[in-house]
Amino acid sequence: MAEAKAKEAKTQTEVSGGAQLVSIYIMGERYMVPDSLTIQKALEFAGYQLVRGCGCRGGICGACGTVYRMPGSYRIEVGLACQTVVKADMHLTQIPFFPANKATYNIDELKPEGSYVASHYPELFKCVGCNTCTRSCPMDIEVMEYISQAIRGNIARVAELSFDCVMCGLCTARCPAEEVQYNVAILCRRLYGKHVAPKAEHLALAVKNVEEGKYDEGLKELMSASEEELKKLYVAREAEPEMADEFWEPEKKEYL
Ligand code: SF4
Ligand code: SF4
Ligand code: FES
Repeated sequence: MAEAKAKEAKTQTEVSGGAQLVSIYIMGERYMVPDSLTIQKALEFAGYQLVRGCGCRGGICGACGTVYRMPGSYRIEVGLACQTVVKADMHLTQIPFFPANKATYNIDELKPEGSYVASHYPELFKCVGCNTCTRSCPMDIEVMEYISQAIRGNIARVAELSFDCVMCGLCTARCPAEEVQYNVAILCRRLYGKHVAPKAEHLALAVKNVEEGKYDEGLKELMSASEEELKKLYVAREAEPEMADEFWEPEKKEYL
């Protein structure tokens, strides 16, 4: 029904509900949509139900990689559908999944050395240095630079440079050397987290507490509480103040 509504609107070009209607082309089909919408909302306005290719709606999960082209330009542009506002006459489609190479490994058995990264992703050495990956990244990550650091075996630098990667796959989709930049990056971050970064003592303690069943009783109580009781508990809970410093602790410490 929404699709019919959007198609009916094809003849309109004036302001509707405070927004200007503009035409966009979704997989070659023309729709009129408000110019204030993100691509994601425009897809829904046009009647598409986003089952895949949509997750957090906040630029974090990387599920909504989208390619588009503007008329008169040969250039394929990229963006996250939930973060990119429509532009008049853009031609677009989403690439919610890219069938890229993904190595399987047991991180405990690997060492934080470049040879382990190279043996899982030997295509690394096919990089031609074109920098298309960096230009394609909606998170403004220096993708070519972290691939270059991966080739050199600098795991820590790859982990640092790729920290903001949302795994959208847009770099891989455009790479002429068929690199899987984001999978290389996550392998390096896992190697760094597992074998190089100092262990967080409070995390180790929390894991130990879980394993020893310290929270089992409290969880059982919560699970047997009614909805009303849960609401009361939630409202009465001791929450961390917004401006608390890193040393803040709750008064009740039995679950620390
Ligand atoms: S797009 Fe591919 S080939 Fe080009 S610099 Fe990036 S990783 Fe290398
Ligand atoms: S590095 Fe690649 S997968 Fe990660 S956010 Fe950038 S384009 Fe997306
Ligand atoms: S829906 Fe998660 S990044 Fe767009």
